[in-house]
Amino acid sequence: MLKKPKSTLAVCLVLVSTLIAVVALTQLRDTTLAAPGYIEPVAATGMVHEVRLVAAPTTGSLDEGTTTDLWTYNGTTPGPEIRITHGDTIRVTLKNNLPEPTSIHWHGIRVPHAMDGVPGLTQPPVAPGETFVYEFTPPDAGTYWYHSHRRGHEQLARGLYGAIVVEDPTEPDYPIDAVWLVDDWRVDDSGMLDPDFDSLNDIHHSGRWGGLFTINGSTQTRLAAAPGERIRIRIVNTANGRPIKPNFGALDPLVIAMDGLPVAENFPPTDITLAPGNRMDVDITIPSDAEGEFIVGDLLGRSDPLELARISVTGDPVGTPGFTAPVGEVPDWSSAADDPADHNVTISFFSEFAEASREEQDRMLETEEFGEFLWKLNGRVWPDAETLTATRGELQKIRIVNESGQMHPIHLHGQFFQLVSRNDERVTEGHYRDTVLMTAFETIEIVVAPFDEGTWLLHCHIQLHAEYGMAMLYEVASELASS
Ligand code: C2O
Ligand code: CU
Repeated sequence: MLKKPKSTLAVCLVLVSTLIAVVALTQLRDTTLAAPGYIEPVAATGMVHEVRLVAAPTTGSLDEGTTTDLWTYNGTTPGPEIRITHGDTIRVTLKNNLPEPTSIHWHGIRVPHAMDGVPGLTQPPVAPGETFVYEFTPPDAGTYWYHSHRRGHEQLARGLYGAIVVEDPTEPDYPIDAVWLVDDWRVDDSGMLDPDFDSLNDIHHSGRWGGLFTINGSTQTRLAAAPGERIRIRIVNTANGRPIKPNFGALDPLVIAMDGLPVAENFPPTDITLAPGNRMDVDITIPSDAEGEFIVGDLLGRSDPLELARISVTGDPVGTPGFTAPVGEVPDWSSAADDPADHNVTISFFSEFAEASREEQDRMLETEEFGEFLWKLNGRVWPDAETLTATRGELQKIRIVNESGQMHPIHLHGQFFQLVSRNDERVTEGHYRDTVLMTAFETIEIVVAPFDEGTWLLHCHIQLHAEYGMAMLYEVASELASS
């Protein structure tokens, strides 16, 4: 039977409903991707921890028998471990006794904007002799770290960082709960820090890497445990540029948290590489028949692990606590890999030498003046930075294209995100992040959960890359300003 020709009204209705469907589809992400559970506010305990951190030049030892000039908080690198319970407030008074301005950033913690420690963006730099008070109640339990956020390529490289742990009272109590801050230092034969903090070679490669590895500022870190013991180790990569690939030798750890927040399901850390900024919490049960030294090492770019620290198993066996390892609610946002991106970011490198004419290059080679080396995000160099905009509560996808032959750990302040694709292949990680490592020429997509208002920093955590331009802004507003 022939259909009757459609009336104009019917055609209009079809058009209108198609339009509605298209609008509905473009908003699909906001309605189908479940919001993260961590945004529920935590009840304050009323407990306030007062901490005084004095940043100052210090002489210290990283390796047995050597001393070097460091910059530290309270005389040691790392600075004091700050450990609080979820719901507690910390009030940190920073006193600057350095010869130059500084600030402290609380990496991974969703602090109020004015407490984020980015000089020129969230606060003025703290001048020599001055103090600044940071006060906040961390909304999310987990493993975090604090570090200088000014001239990090030197201030971090000299030792200005420490751990901050927000314990979750609903999680099982591990008999041993340790924080391991991993770092690599560039020292000479006598153990003195190399004072050239911005070599051109480091700027245009992967930043300053060093050959002396420490955990908690020592090459001799030993963790004593009994056979049968159950331990939690919170590993933080505090290096200036080098990723680490933790290896636990004969032990069988399970990952319980990444970048602070609990993972959806526990898994072995075999494939985990921690970029500068990344954290990983592992649960290790020492076998009840174990004895002796267990080496924890780094497997990045090598087949035999390089020793970082040891777990020394001694004493009488203890009963292994039978609790289940913590997990968290992590909605799966990976379907967003198929959606269009809300923002695109391109990473590129600029070198005056590479751009110069042949004659000009010859002259540069002769005079050894190679001009500027800069890292760009969307063609711009910090502080001339682009601002990506977001509306509070509306998840959005950012596509980042690495047009350079170097790796970049991309870190976003103020919000957590999920990695949803690498080189256009969908990825389901089962955890949130605040830092993601991009390899050379790689493209990634992340879904950001913007819940904390303010204009935040998005930057490379290779300190020299950030210092030489690689930072931009991420603005979360209650409503998007019409532009
Ligand atoms: Cu851990 Cu903006 O840095
Ligand atoms: Cu970088």
